[in-house]
Amino acid sequence: MTQMMELRGRWSLITGASSGLGVELARHIAREHGGHVVLVARRRDRLEALAEELRARHGVQVACVTADLSRPDDVERIFTEATQGRDIHAVILNAGVTYWGEAMKQGWSEFQSMLDTNVTSLVRLSSLFVPYLVERGTHGGMMFVSSVAGLIPVPYQAAYSGTKAFVTSYGQCLAQEVRPKGVSVTVFAPGGISTELLVNSGLSNRFKAGDMGVMTPEECAAHAVRAFLRRKELYVPGLLNQTLALAARVLPRGFLAQRTAAIYRPES
Ligand SMILES: NC(=O)c1ccc[n+]([C@@H]2O[C@H](COP(=O)([O-])OP(=O)(O)OC[C@H]3O[C@@H](n4cnc5c(N)ncnc54)[C@H](OP(=O)(O)O)[C@@H]3O)[C@@H](O)[C@H]2O)c1
Repeated sequence: MTQMMELRGRWSLITGASSGLGVELARHIAREHGGHVVLVARRRDRLEALAEELRARHGVQVACVTADLSRPDDVERIFTEATQGRDIHAVILNAGVTYWGEAMKQGWSEFQSMLDTNVTSLVRLSSLFVPYLVERGTHGGMMFVSSVAGLIPVPYQAAYSGTKAFVTSYGQCLAQEVRPKGVSVTVFAPGGISTELLVNSGLSNRFKAGDMGVMTPEECAAHAVRAFLRRKELYVPGLLNQTLALAARVLPRGFLAQRTAAIYRPES
């Protein structure tokens, strides 16, 4: 399957569309590609505000699904609501949460919620949407937002790094399994992005847009959509992040873990 994906006049579903990269992915798809979007997140007010903006500025259709990805019933409902009365062509599983600090200090319920949000919901939504896209036979696609932290072990973001390693590996495996059935799977693995995720975790004190390959969400979204339309199986945006990804392939993981520990170690 070599043809580029076409989003114009078609529906894309985007999780994590109330903030950061998700908002910019929706804006980019509406503005640059005239695509209709289903916006998914917990904060309804933000989804409604974005929906109004996209309808008014770009004349596209927008639907909102309020759902908590850490709740299994909500995850099922996303599929039912999104596919009721519309054909979904592209699914971008972007939502994610992190925790910065010593792994042994992360609360158990916080870890469970991270695992449910970053991993379990992604697998469940894939198991619902991949057969749906295969059945429709229109060469749709899925994109998983992973992270460079899924390619390199990142101490002090241990659980997050583990969830993103899962997402990367699962996505690359799935890509091979479903490509012959006419559906592409893209794993998009950015480095730092200046969003609420950095602010909420406290990492914004350490990394800002322009530092160490940290991108703005607008810049990052443009890279992501480009890679998705070209049906890349794994894409890392930006030269510095690509260098890190290359280092992850050639340098010992223990050495990389030691170096990233020095960068991420919180001040005590
Ligand atoms: N920022 C970075 O430095 C960075 C680097 C590499 C990869 N990434 C990845 O990029 C993706 C987007 O992150 P971001 O930086 O844009 O973060 P963000 O600004 O914090 O946005 C996260 C989005 O995920 C949604 N979300 C979180 N938990 C959810 C839940 N339980 N149920 C439903 N939605 C939930 C949030 O919506 P509600 O709170 O409204 O539900 C929000 O829309 C994530 O997968 C992240 O891991 C980020």
